[in-house]
Amino acid sequence: MSQHKIQRKPFVVANWKMNKLAHQVHEFLDEVMPPLAQVDQVEAGIAAQDIFLADMVRQTADSPLQVVAENVHWEDYGAYTGETSPRALADIGVRYVLVGHFERRKFFNETDATVNLKVNAALRNGLKPIIDIDEDMRAYAQFMDAEPAVAQVAAALAGVAVDQVRNVTIAYEPTWAIGSGEAASADQAQKAAHLIRQTLAHLYSPVIAEKIRILYGGSVTVDNARSIMGQPDIDGVLVGKAALHPKAFLDLVDIAQTTIE
Ligand code: PGA
Repeated sequence: MSQHKIQRKPFVVANWKMNKLAHQVHEFLDEVMPPLAQVDQVEAGIAAQDIFLADMVRQTADSPLQVVAENVHWEDYGAYTGETSPRALADIGVRYVLVGHFERRKFFNETDATVNLKVNAALRNGLKPIIDIDEDMRAYAQFMDAEPAVAQVAAALAGVAVDQVRNVTIAYEPTWAIGSGEAASADQAQKAAHLIRQTLAHLYSPVIAEKIRILYGGSVTVDNARSIMGQPDIDGVLVGKAALHPKAFLDLVDIAQTTIE
C-alpha cells in the first residue's frame, strides 16, 4: 500500500435511500453490529431516512458503526417546514451527512450553490459532510475535459477553511453509474479520484489533499468493490442497492479491510 493511503482509513458507506422500514432497520443493525465490533481498520456507516436516525444512534451507541443523514438544510434553525436542521442532527448524535447526492440534485433541484451552503452548515455544526461529485468524468478518464468536475469540487468547498476540510469526505458518483448496474471501471474511478485529489491539492495543499478520503459510488457490488477499492486514490465506497442486505454490507467492509493488508 502507498504511504499516502496509510493516512486515510477506508470508509464503507451504505446509502439506504428510501428503502427500509423501521423493523428492517432494527434487524439489519442487530445482524451487523457484532461482526463490526471486531473491525477497527475500516470505518463503516449507514445513511438512512431522518425518521430512523435517533433510534439508530441509540442502537449503535456501543458500536463503531456511523449513522449518516441523507440530507440536511443549510440554515441552523428557522421557518423551513419539512427540512432538517444540521444543529438538530448533531444534537441527536449524528456525525456524518450526505450532501449533494445525485438524486437530490436531480429530483429536488439542488445546485452547486445549495450544496456549498449545506457543506458549510454541516461543518459549522460539527457534522462531517460526505460530498457527492456527480460530474461525468469519462471524458477526463480519456484525458479530455476535466474542467466541469474541477469546478464542481471547488464550488462545493467554497468558504471551507483549511482547518475544516479534513472533516470532509468526497464521493465520486458519476450519474450514469448510480443504480444503473454499470459501474465505472477501476481505472476510470481512479483517474477521477486522482483528479479530485489534485483539485484538493490546488485548493488547499498537497499535504492536506493526501488526508482527505475520496470514495467511489455507483453500482458498486461485492464483485467489483475489490478492484475499485484497491486503487491508490480510492478510500472506500458509497453503496446503494448492494448494501441493502446485511451480509453484502459486511462483505464490503471485509473487502475494504483486505485493501489495507
Ligand atoms: P447504487 O447507488 O449503488 O445503487 O448505484 C449508489 C448511490 O446512490 O449512492
